[in-house]
Amino acid sequence: MSDNKNEANWIDHTYDVVVVGAGGAGLRATLGAAKEGLKTACVTKVFPTRSHTVAAQGGIAASLGNMGEDNWRWHMYDTVKGSDWLGDQDSIEYLCREAPKAVYELEHWGMPFSRTEDGKIYQRPFGGMMQNMGKGPPAQRTCAAADRTGHAMLHTLYGQSLRRSAEFFLEYFALDLIMEDGVCRGITAWKLDDGTLHRFRAKTVILATGGYGRTYFSCTSAHTCTGDGNGMVLRAGLPLQDPEFVQFHPTGIYGAGCLITEGARGEGGYLTNSEGERFMERYAPSAKDLASRDVVSRAMTIEIREGRGVGPDKDHIHLHLDHLDPDILADRLPGISESAKIFSGVDVTKEPIPVLPTCHYNMGGIPTNFHGEVVTKKGKNPDAVVPGLMAVGEAACVSVHGGNRLGSNSLIDLVVFGRAAGLRCGELLDASEGQPELAAGAGAESFARLEHFRNANGKSSTADIRLEMQKTMQVHCAVFRTDESLAEGVSKMGDVYASMKDIGVSDRSLVWNTDLVETLELDNLMGNALATMAAAENRKESRGAHASEDHPDRDDKTWMKHTLAWVKNGKVKLGSRPVHTYTLSDDIDYIKPAKRVY
Ligand code: FUM
Repeated sequence: MSDNKNEANWIDHTYDVVVVGAGGAGLRATLGAAKEGLKTACVTKVFPTRSHTVAAQGGIAASLGNMGEDNWRWHMYDTVKGSDWLGDQDSIEYLCREAPKAVYELEHWGMPFSRTEDGKIYQRPFGGMMQNMGKGPPAQRTCAAADRTGHAMLHTLYGQSLRRSAEFFLEYFALDLIMEDGVCRGITAWKLDDGTLHRFRAKTVILATGGYGRTYFSCTSAHTCTGDGNGMVLRAGLPLQDPEFVQFHPTGIYGAGCLITEGARGEGGYLTNSEGERFMERYAPSAKDLASRDVVSRAMTIEIREGRGVGPDKDHIHLHLDHLDPDILADRLPGISESAKIFSGVDVTKEPIPVLPTCHYNMGGIPTNFHGEVVTKKGKNPDAVVPGLMAVGEAACVSVHGGNRLGSNSLIDLVVFGRAAGLRCGELLDASEGQPELAAGAGAESFARLEHFRNANGKSSTADIRLEMQKTMQVHCAVFRTDESLAEGVSKMGDVYASMKDIGVSDRSLVWNTDLVETLELDNLMGNALATMAAAENRKESRGAHASEDHPDRDDKTWMKHTLAWVKNGKVKLGSRPVHTYTLSDDIDYIKPAKRVY
């Protein structure tokens, strides 16, 4: 720290590219930029192989056609339909066309995929993935490394990034963007183990900080999923896009929230209610248990509401794997067999797993184009690029998932757009060129904010305020929503935000101050939660994961548009930008909106 209490003693660094976050997207962008010959740093609050991508189980979608006919157009059709026509079709075309290339790249870098008898990458069925432009039968499109695909991917990408001489700043907590006249010039960060403060000057910053699942009480996300990059963007006066679209995964373990992969249903697992009925046959006669996640989560919620839940409180559903060959379970689903035992005491070869829809993924995030460049609405231009700033992965909204993401489209999003961002940096940046000095006082506001929280001496604990926020989100903004409940949620979130004024942080140190870390994370979560609730209250239709009981139909005329949400001092301002209703090339026509039936 400086002797002057109002000034930080910044340690300055200069890079061509600074990536924030070291999950699948961050690592792929890091290694991509380094591969382009750019001086690249990756700043991450957790060790790379502990990033939340490590928890991704079932697989990564790409139309390799190893286990039945497939092609990228079918993948594109399914993704557009899965998005409930809120996805940008230029980005979706890019995703699906580039997917096989991105997977083969991983294979060549040593990712230990499961294999078919003849040595090809093993692919399993996943929800909403079909052949023949949605007509079926199910496509085996999801490439898997048993049920530990994210784990295998992270280790592969981290090794490759080191090989490319990317530099890692481990356990640095990114605080804020450094913006000058609308241009991103770098970031500020706090090194957790020694309390030093850092400014990273860069020609391009790539945010890859993941989602904000921890705004909810019950989620599959790690404790670290606190939407830090989204918080940085909001504080820089830029908007989030489509935050109201929050995915509930049908099979979180009841009570614990841990994920049981959709791959379990891909391998033949099925859901039953208290009458032993395979109820998905009623809700999705064709795809049944492999309908898209929003459809399955709603069906489960209805079954429970109508009194057909299982257990003493009739408040959850059974997932059966007990009819499957134990050798298949051991080979393809070893991780979830272990999780079921640890977290619910169930032997999957003999009993069903108790499950419940659980918050899993944020379709919304920082708006970008398909190169990964952050865009915002400027005057009449809805796609104006913010110079020097990119975002990839769950932090971003590119938007390929629209209103609802298909399972296994997340891992492919990470590597396709992480790769795209690296390539774009290669096109736009020249390693031999210098960059201007930062303006005098750069980072001062960021330091002031850190000091504000470090010295906060109110009576409310971070944990109590966070719990209040999580319960408010869980009660008012979950699988089904009503106008009344959302309006109440907006008002309650206003109160929760106001309670931050009375927050108290117990430790004044900057060395391993976990209370301060959690407070900064809560501050980030808060912006995300406020935007999510307000955007959900605003959208008067049902689309994808946003299921309004008062407005049960999709309304393309009024609502086929992306929400933009700015948050300042706890107040949310909403706007919109158009959905891209065009494709990238003439190889495929725009896929026109249709009723979404599985
Ligand atoms: O169910 C799963 O394995 C999760 C995959 C995903 O969210 O893409």
